Amino acid sequence: MKIAVVEGDGIGKEVIPVAVKVLEHYVPDAEYLEVEVGYGKWEKTGRGCDEGDIETMREADAVIFGAITTPPDPNYKSVMLKIRHDLGLYANIRPVRGNGFKITVVRENSEGLYSGIEDIGSERSTTLRVVTREASERIAVCACDILKRDFEGGTLTIGNKANVMKSDVLFRDTCMKVAESMGIPYRTAYIDSLTFDALQNPGRYDVIVTTNMFGDILSDALGHVAGGLGMLPSANIGADNSLFEPVHGSAPDIAGRGIANPVAAIRSAGMLLEHVAGIGCEQEIEMAISGAVSSGAGTPDLGGNSGTELFGKEILKRLEKR
Ligand code: IPM
Ligand code: MG
Repeated sequence: MKIAVVEGDGIGKEVIPVAVKVLEHYVPDAEYLEVEVGYGKWEKTGRGCDEGDIETMREADAVIFGAITTPPDPNYKSVMLKIRHDLGLYANIRPVRGNGFKITVVRENSEGLYSGIEDIGSERSTTLRVVTREASERIAVCACDILKRDFEGGTLTIGNKANVMKSDVLFRDTCMKVAESMGIPYRTAYIDSLTFDALQNPGRYDVIVTTNMFGDILSDALGHVAGGLGMLPSANIGADNSLFEPVHGSAPDIAGRGIANPVAAIRSAGMLLEHVAGIGCEQEIEMAISGAVSSGAGTPDLGGNSGTELFGKEILKRLEKR
């Protein structure tokens, strides 16, 4: 198995090495291909990511990815969006766990307000929000499959703003049709009140499917009930490729201090192992994380006083004992 490793910038460089140790624990024979993309690369070469980097990621069985800092260049195009586009990663799967609940946000990852179709002027700027039946169907099927697999007896929530935007009527109705045809119980909810309610009563939700930017905002907001942004992993899935990354960014404010929480990166590695190698390590990883946290070995955001490396070692030690 070939795994492309992109540390990226900021705390990506601190949390990804810990995630790689977890990968090495489960798949010791895997080959790791280091890929440099991001701000650091842009400073050296004027480009955040080149075709060779994309090719390496494409040829690998999976990518583990840290985070990228946006360079201060007005013409800069997001490297992350380029990678998602070029590798066809149409589904962004973001599990959120907390005390007694688990919600999986299934975010459409290829269009919506991230279409990249923009007309920028000094007096008027527009960004085109694109919703297609094809992409809506594809993401709805993905959400229904996850519900069937991981949430027995659960309900699909279709997050939308169809009361205001006609483009979301197409999204909502397409998701409803898919759920009906797959025999999945569903409800629809406006994304604003849904976000508030999910923060108050996370136990009411199972899988939430929504469009690209709503999913971006909703997943960060849910970090609040999951113990912080440092806890949220994600999987970017396509037909031929997959990329696994923490939901958090490169966090320049704490980068270089060795205190970043590696849990999001470790959980992302767990999702990679499950998706690419069929290794069901989720429970084991969760036990190792909670064991390390209860022993007081967490990072400061979790109330502990360990650094990234020590917390990672404590988690790994528990995995090795099992
Ligand atoms: C995320 C990030 C990205 C997004 C950025 C870095 C392009 O916020 O993965 O949630 O908006 O999708
Ligand atoms: Mg985001």
